[in-house]
Amino acid sequence: MCGIVAYIGNNNCKNILINGLKRLEYRGYDSAGIGILAKKDAISGKKIKSNDKVNKNKYEIKVVKQAGKIKELEKLLENFDIDGTVGIGHTRWATHGEPNQVNAHPHLDCTGKIAVVHNGIIENYAELKEELIKKGHKFVSNTDTEILSHLLEEYLKNEADGKLLIAMQRLLRKIRGSGAIVALSAEHPDELVAGRIASPLIVGISRDGNFFASDMPAVLEHTHNFVVINDYESVRITKEKVEIYDFEGILINREPFKVNWTLKSAEKAGYEDFMLKEMFEQPYGIRETMRGRLTNGTFNFEEINLSNEQIKNLRKIQIIACGTSLHAALTGKLVIEKWANIPVEVDISSEYRYRDPIVNDNFLFIAITQSGETIDTLAAIREAKRKGAKVIAVTNVVGSTIARESDSVVYTHAGPEIGVCATKTFTAQIIVMYMIGLYLARVKGSIKSDEYSQIIEEIEIIPNKVQQILNSADKLKKIADETYKHTCFLFLGRIYGFPMALEGALKLKEISYIHAEGYAAGEMKHGPIALTDSKTVVVGVIPQDFVYEKMLSNLQEVKARNAKIFSIITEGDNNTKKYSDYVFEIPKTSEELYGILTVVPLQLYAYYIAKNLDRNVDQPRNLAKSVTVE
Ligand code: AGP
Repeated sequence: MCGIVAYIGNNNCKNILINGLKRLEYRGYDSAGIGILAKKDAISGKKIKSNDKVNKNKYEIKVVKQAGKIKELEKLLENFDIDGTVGIGHTRWATHGEPNQVNAHPHLDCTGKIAVVHNGIIENYAELKEELIKKGHKFVSNTDTEILSHLLEEYLKNEADGKLLIAMQRLLRKIRGSGAIVALSAEHPDELVAGRIASPLIVGISRDGNFFASDMPAVLEHTHNFVVINDYESVRITKEKVEIYDFEGILINREPFKVNWTLKSAEKAGYEDFMLKEMFEQPYGIRETMRGRLTNGTFNFEEINLSNEQIKNLRKIQIIACGTSLHAALTGKLVIEKWANIPVEVDISSEYRYRDPIVNDNFLFIAITQSGETIDTLAAIREAKRKGAKVIAVTNVVGSTIARESDSVVYTHAGPEIGVCATKTFTAQIIVMYMIGLYLARVKGSIKSDEYSQIIEEIEIIPNKVQQILNSADKLKKIADETYKHTCFLFLGRIYGFPMALEGALKLKEISYIHAEGYAAGEMKHGPIALTDSKTVVVGVIPQDFVYEKMLSNLQEVKARNAKIFSIITEGDNNTKKYSDYVFEIPKTSEELYGILTVVPLQLYAYYIAKNLDRNVDQPRNLAKSVTVE
C-alpha cells in the first residue's frame, strides 16, 4: 500500500523516480506523483499549471501528480521539463480523501518549499490540522498526509533551528498512527530526510547517490546494498552519506546488507504478467526454500532456534496470519498435529491482536507473512511477545519489519513476488509448514521412521510434480474458457483439501471479481447447498486421500442440484470423472502433501478465468501487496 521512492545523487532523477514507482506498482495504488528539486535558473520548458510554487531561493520544488496509473503521470510529465538530481516519488493507495490529483502525493507546505510523501495513516491528523489552521495554515487536500509538510514548516520556523532532520524528529514525536515519511526541502538542497513509524522504509546505497524506498525492487537496478529503517528512527541522506538516528536523536551505526535478488527476478521475463511468471517459478521457489534445510532426508533447521528439550516440552503452537498466508497456517495445523502430535491453534492476525489471547509456558508462536509487513500480523506478534511468547516468523522478505521483530525467522526463498496475488510465496510457505511439522515430529519421535522416510522422499520430488502440473496449464485454460461466464463458484475440500478450497476461492475472487466461496465440503448441507443450481460451478478438491469417498458423496449431492462440477483429481481416478463435467489430474503423492499439488491448478484456473474477463491480474482493484494499514 503506497509506494515511496526518493533519490539524491549525481544523476537526473526523473526517470529514476518513475521507474522506481513502476517497480512498486504491485503494492497497489490509485494515483502517483513526483516532486523534484530544480535550480530556478535551470528551469525551462512549458508553463506548469498545477502545483507550481516559486520561492525566493535558488531552488524550487516542482511537483507533478496525477490520478490513475503511472502512465497517466508520464503523459502529464510530457508537458513539463524538469531536471534535478534530488527528488521524491509516490504511489498512493487512498485512505483519507478520494484518489484524485489534489490528494495525490507529494504534498507541499504553505510556502511550497517543503514537499512530503507518506505511506501510512496519521490517526491524530484531524486535531493537528485544526491546530495548524488556527495558526493560519491553508490546506488544499483531504488527506491526512498534508499536515506533515505543514508541521515541518512550523517546526523549521520555530523549534528545529532551521534543521530539517530535527523537524522530522519533532514530527515523529507528534504524530500517532503509522508512516514512512520522506521530506524534500528547497532550502535544504543537499539532503533528504525521512522518518518511520510502522510502515516499511529502506535506504539503498550506491556510488552515484542514495535512495529511500518502500521496498527493494524499486531501486534494484541501481544497488543491492540496503539498510532497513526501524520504528521511530529518523534518517538523513546526502549524495555520499547515510545517517540514521534513534528516537532520542542519537546517531546509530548500522551496517548495510546485500541482497542477491536480481533485477531480472523482479521483471516479467517474457511472461504476460507477473502472476503467470510467478506461478511458473514455483518449482524453483519450493526447491530454494528446501535448499540447505532438507538434505538427503535430514533436517538442518538451526533458524528455528529451539533445543530438542524445548521441542519435546512444547504444549501448544499458535499460528497467526492473514489471507493466503492464513491458508498456509491451516495446512500447518493439520500436518503439525498429525506428525508432531502437538495441538495447534490458528488465528486470523486481526482477530488475535484484539482477543486477549492466552500465552502459556511451553508455547510456540508462528507468524506467516509473505511480505513481512502486514500490520495486523505485526500487531499480533507484538501482543504475543508482550505476553511472553517466543515468535518465529515465516516470511519471504529479508529485513522486513516482522523478520526483525521476531525471535527467529524461517525465510521462504521464493524470490521477489510482484503480483499482488500470492502464488509462489504460498507454495513456499506450505513447504515450510511440511518441513517444520516433520522436523518437530522427528525430534519428538512422534512419527514412525518408515512413514517419515516415505514422506521425505515425496517432499524431495514435489517440485517435479508441480512442474508436471504447470506443463498441463493449457488444459486449465480450456476449462476456464468454458466456465468463466458463471457468476457463482463454490470451492469444496476436506482436511488437506479444505485450506486449498479456501485458497482457490480467494484467488478467483481477488483477480476475477467473481463471487467465490471456499467451504469444508461437509458444511454444504448446513447452508451453502441452497446456492447451487445450473449457474453454479462447484470446484471439488478431491485427491485420493482418506476422505475421498466422503468428498465424492458431497460432489454427487451438488451434481444432483445441476451445478457444473470441476474436480481436481488424482491421476487415474476414473470414478470421480463420472460425476464431473471437467477434471484436472494431479500426480499421486502422500496424502498429507496433496494440498501443495491441488492448489497449483486452482491458481492457474483463477488466472485464466480472470484473463478471459480482461482483468489486471497483477494489480487487482482495491488490493495491495503489503497491507500496511489496519
Ligand atoms: C493473497 O493473494 C492476498 N494478496 C492476500 O490475501 C495476502 O495473502 C494477505 O494480505 C497477507 O499478506 P502477507 O502474507 O504479506 O501477510
